[in-house]
Amino acid sequence: MNTLDPASTYDHALEVLKENDHGDYTIPTKGLYPFQWNWDSCLTALGQSHYDEARAWTEIDTLFAHQWPDGMVPHIVFHVYSDGYFPGPNVWATNRPTPTSGITQPPVAGFAVKRLFDRARDKALATERARALLPKIDAWHRWFYADRDPHDEGLVAILHPWESGRDNSIDWDEAFERVPTEGVEPYTRRDTQHADPAHRPTKAQYDRYLWLVQHFRDLDWDNSRLHDASPFQVIDPGFNAILIRACADLADLAEALGENQIAADNRARAAAGLKAIEGLWSDSHGQYLCKDRTTDALIDSATIGGILPVFAAIPKPRAHEIARTIERWADAAKFIVPSHDPLDPRFEAKRYWRGPVWLVMNYMIADGLTVIGETAVAEHIIRSSLDLITQSGFAEYYDPTTGEPCGGGRFTWTAAMVIEFLDLMGR
Ligand code: GLC
Repeated sequence: MNTLDPASTYDHALEVLKENDHGDYTIPTKGLYPFQWNWDSCLTALGQSHYDEARAWTEIDTLFAHQWPDGMVPHIVFHVYSDGYFPGPNVWATNRPTPTSGITQPPVAGFAVKRLFDRARDKALATERARALLPKIDAWHRWFYADRDPHDEGLVAILHPWESGRDNSIDWDEAFERVPTEGVEPYTRRDTQHADPAHRPTKAQYDRYLWLVQHFRDLDWDNSRLHDASPFQVIDPGFNAILIRACADLADLAEALGENQIAADNRARAAAGLKAIEGLWSDSHGQYLCKDRTTDALIDSATIGGILPVFAAIPKPRAHEIARTIERWADAAKFIVPSHDPLDPRFEAKRYWRGPVWLVMNYMIADGLTVIGETAVAEHIIRSSLDLITQSGFAEYYDPTTGEPCGGGRFTWTAAMVIEFLDLMGR
């Protein structure tokens, strides 16, 4: 295998970020994803901050400029029309000044903004930009607990697999069976024209993705009605952990900026989430599991979604147990962290979210493990991530058994995470 050259790897990452930069937002990759994606942008800003802090703040500002009046922040902003992506603005029909999708994505903004603020070289700029973003992120968090946790359980549900950010995970299969496919309007997929169809979701899955979009559209995208009307309501521990971490980080940031009400509200949300997430722990899996809110049953699927809670302040014994689970997975895969337990027969090394490694997941998991002192596992994850880049370039994701690059190429958030990892290693 080639050895890592930090300087040229950094330059290469920068090149990828710059070529996908559209001025005030960055697309994930040319062709496959030609618009602004929510959590891609927040994590991308971390990479950008190493060479241009103002540009990093703008990445997040642009996303929040398209927040809905109810507080929701959409998963895609269709800034400039492109027919290379399906489903495009006409299918979503959300009736927004700039078209957006109608669903959300993992709320990493609170975490990203605190990190940008904490390490800012330009403190005056950081204070000004963070202060402006604070109420907007708070409104997004409030929206989550009002409309995605309507019965005050302390955990929010996703109503569409795409909200999880782990679009095609095995976690959704069982619950997805309950989503009908009748009445889906005829469509032509675009993803399979940009990426290998064998790595992408199947047609039956795509029909269900679209059924949900049409169903929510028929309800006029009224978020106060969508939760109860959705046949798909899944509580994802990874998604909730991101929200819990974001609430805790936003509370710290609000405190630093003297916004005491925002601090108290977010502190309370994080505390309620941490208490409730314990109900998703599985001793036999050594990790958290998803829960189907429509049946109230845990979903027997060991994915990275149940590993990700180390990113939040879960009880230390749980986090250590998760580190041991990652070590078990590492014995079965050459590169970590796979998105599904490689020992499970349902694991698929190349198919989107059913096995492959994503660097953004690695970043958040390594961050959480470092905080609790599992530095050896964290370092293993970072090394694995950089080995993948050295071997296979800046891909969307990687086969954990071979390191083969999969999905889109020259991928923005992969490049951003590489800059973060190089920095952690003291480039
Ligand atoms: C895929 C991923 C999602 C990501 C998007 C853009 O849909 O599943 O998490 O935000 O691509 O990179």
